[in-house]
Amino acid sequence: MTTATLPLEEEVVTIPSSEASALLPTYKRAPMQLVKGEGVELIDSEGKRYLDFASGIAVNALGYGDAGIAQVISEALSTGLIHTSNLYQTAAGEQLAARLIERSFASQVFFCNSGAEANEGAFKFARRWARKTGTDAKVEIIALRGSFHGRLFASLAATDRPSYRAPFRPLAGGVSICERDLRDLDTALDGETVAAVIVEPIQGEGGVRVLDADFLRRLRAMTAEREIALIFDEIQCGLGRTGYFFAYENVGVVPDMLTIAKPLAGGLPMGAVLVSGEIGATIQPGDHGTTFGGGPLVAAVAGYVVDRLSDPSLLKAVRDNGAWLGGQLDTVARRSGKVRAIRGTGYIWGLDVVESANEIVKRGWDEGLLALTAGEHTLRILPPLVMDRDDLMRGVQILERIIG
Ligand SMILES: Cc1ncc(COP(=O)(O)O)c(C=O)c1O
Repeated sequence: MTTATLPLEEEVVTIPSSEASALLPTYKRAPMQLVKGEGVELIDSEGKRYLDFASGIAVNALGYGDAGIAQVISEALSTGLIHTSNLYQTAAGEQLAARLIERSFASQVFFCNSGAEANEGAFKFARRWARKTGTDAKVEIIALRGSFHGRLFASLAATDRPSYRAPFRPLAGGVSICERDLRDLDTALDGETVAAVIVEPIQGEGGVRVLDADFLRRLRAMTAEREIALIFDEIQCGLGRTGYFFAYENVGVVPDMLTIAKPLAGGLPMGAVLVSGEIGATIQPGDHGTTFGGGPLVAAVAGYVVDRLSDPSLLKAVRDNGAWLGGQLDTVARRSGKVRAIRGTGYIWGLDVVESANEIVKRGWDEGLLALTAGEHTLRILPPLVMDRDDLMRGVQILERIIG
C-alpha cells in the first residue's frame, strides 16, 4: 500500500492512496491530496500550489478562505442551531427564500441538498401541477440532447450520457431525451402528455454549449401555448457564472421553474427549486420533503453568498473579464493549432481539443493548474468568480503550454 503524508503542524495524518481507498471508486481521483485553499489557489500535501480553473466543479465561486463565509458560519454556529428540520420555521431559510424571490420570476422556493435533488423536486412539482391543470396522462418530462441533470433515477433518465445510463436500466419512466431541434420538439411536445421540458441554458457537462437565445425564446412560446412547464437547470451556469445573477436574465426568457445548487451555500451542500406562482399554488403539505434541506446553517451561508454574487460590480467584472478571457483563449487556439472550437461566456468556457482532454488536464496538475473536461475532447474551465485578470492570464499561459 502506498501512502502520502500530510505535513500538518499538530499531527501527521496518513491517508491511503486511491488504490487502497475505503471509498467506493465512483470517481477517478487525482493523485494529489489537497489540504488547503487560499484565494484562488489550492495547496497539496507536498506544499505544491495549483491555480484553480475548476472551482470544485463550479462551486467555489468566492474562492477559498473567504472571511465573510467564515464569519457567517461562526455566527450561525453561535446560535447552536445547525439543524432544526423542516417541521419548524427558521429566519435564515425564510430570508434566503425571500431574497431569491425578490431577484427572480419566482413566487416560492423549495430547498434541498444537491443539484440532482433540485431537479427531482422540479419534476415532481411539474407533475403535480400538470395533473391539476390537465389529465392523468400529462406526466412526461423531456430533456435535450447533450443534457446533464444529475445521477439519481429521474435526473439520470434526463441525462444524455449513455455510459452513465446503460448500467442502471431501467431508468425512471416517463422521462426522455429529444434533439436540440425545434422541429423535433414541435413533434415531441404534446400538451396532452408532456408535463415539462428541462433545459440547461448553457449545457455544462455536455461540452459547454450555449443554447441560442432564439431557440430558447421559441421553446418558451411553444411550451406556454401547450401548457407545458419550462424548467431551466442553472445548477452550473447560474448564480453569476455568466455575469448575470441568473443566466436567463441575459436571454430574456423566463422559465416556470429554475433549479440552482453548486455555489449556492459557499461549498456546503444545498440546492433549490424556484417555482412560479401558478405551479406553487398546486403544491400542498406532503407533496415533497427533505430532512436537511434549507437548514439554518446552510441557509445563513447561502444568504451571504447570494448577496455577494448579486453584487453588480462582481457581475460586471465577470462579464468584462469573461469577454477578455474568451479573446485570450481564441489567441491560444489560433497559435496552437490544436483547438478546434471555443465556446462559452463569462467564467464558463469549453475548448474542443484534438488530443484527449483528460491527458491535458493531467499535464495541468504537473504545471500547477486545475482544469476540467466536458467529454472526451473538450477542456472546460470554470474559474472562481473572484479571479482577476492577472490570475486568469496566468492560467491561460499554463493552458497554452499544456495544450502544446
Ligand atoms: C447542470 C447540472 N445539473 C445538475 C447537476 C447535478 O448536481 P449534483 O452533482 O449536485 O447532484 C449538475 C452537476 O454537475 C449540473 O452541472
